Amino acid sequence: MSTIGVLGGGQLARMLALAGAPLGVRFLIVDNVADACAGQVAPLLVADWRDFAALERFAAQIDVATFDFENVPADTAHWLTEHTRVSPNPRALALAQDRLAEKSMFRELGLETPAFATVDSREDLVRAAATIGFPAVLKTRRLGYDGKGQFRLRSADDIDAAWRALGGAPSILEAWVAFEREVSVVAVRGRDGAFATYPLVQNWHSDGILSASLAPAPDAAGLAELATHHARRIAEHLDYVGVFALELFVRDGKLLGNEMAPRVHNSGHWTIEGAPCSQFENHVRAVLGLPLGDTAALGVSVMLNWIGQLPDAGPVLREPRGHWHDYGKSPRAGRKVGHATLCAGNAADLGEALARVARALGREAQAAPVLAALHGAR
Ligand SMILES: Nc1ncnc2c1ncn2[C@@H]1O[C@H](COP(=O)(O)OP(=O)(O)O)[C@@H](O)[C@H]1O
Ligand SMILES: [Mg+2]
Repeated sequence: MSTIGVLGGGQLARMLALAGAPLGVRFLIVDNVADACAGQVAPLLVADWRDFAALERFAAQIDVATFDFENVPADTAHWLTEHTRVSPNPRALALAQDRLAEKSMFRELGLETPAFATVDSREDLVRAAATIGFPAVLKTRRLGYDGKGQFRLRSADDIDAAWRALGGAPSILEAWVAFEREVSVVAVRGRDGAFATYPLVQNWHSDGILSASLAPAPDAAGLAELATHHARRIAEHLDYVGVFALELFVRDGKLLGNEMAPRVHNSGHWTIEGAPCSQFENHVRAVLGLPLGDTAALGVSVMLNWIGQLPDAGPVLREPRGHWHDYGKSPRAGRKVGHATLCAGNAADLGEALARVARALGREAQAAPVLAALHGAR
């Protein structure tokens, strides 16, 4: 019997624990808040990321440590490697924590990115804006998530506001991309180097937060192959073990690297019901050195994120292939509190189910772009 230790006790840790249970895997979660929602399904140790006495107790009880939260301090991850196995490795974690290092790696490995420049001072920002132009987005190099730590600039008039908003933190200025669509690939690499990807997913964001995902992304055969190629190069370069996601923009039919998440990812939640082996089970398998599971799509799936508060579960549960996920978190604006996944055998049936659910919940705006993509796919 193996025990996986998870740093961070949010919904990702919760779904990892739920996926590992049938395999007989035990979990121990560490989080710095006592009501972390993974604590409802697995033992929770409440400790700060730098409480090394507590982390020593944690390490003594587990076979491998992994992450629900990618912003665990890199030195904590390094420290852990002296006490237990850590997957993904701290180098991969550190790289994904820094937008500058991450985008530079993408380019080195042949994946284009939006134009960007380093910004460490107000003068840097003025200079960067002159080369990159507008619209642009200033992003902190570290600690950003769900659109936080970002400021959009429409013109030079926004430079002062942007600089103030991000508090002068080390940042990058990035060209704002008028993309045709956003996609992501969720990949998994085993300890033995085995590698697999789930089908490419199309994503829609609202205010920088994922709103909906459609899998597989319609009409994306060539792009999917390319995305897999890039994901594999990154995984091998980092000697990565576990699941990660690569977020991409599609512009002029070409892929641009946006960011990678060194963990299971929101755009892979559909795999719980929409694939033979979910991203969560595959992460468990990978970090324990077990054979990887099948990543094919079983038909088509759409995932809707519930942000702030949960709607009524009834309309989703009434669908023959509707699946409800309540993370057990208290409602708060901008917080991911749950999601629903609808599955079907084809795009037409999925579109009908999605339209019924959206109408019943008053979520037509959230569903509209997905319905349009599904319609185009018929
Ligand atoms: N340069 C950009 N051009 C166009 N859209 C962007 C750009 N950067 C971010 N976005 C939008 O904001 C979302 C969140 O930004 P991202 O860089 O992925 O940060 P986070 O870490 O918050 O997910 C993206 O998925 C995309 O929809
Ligand atoms: Mg993102």
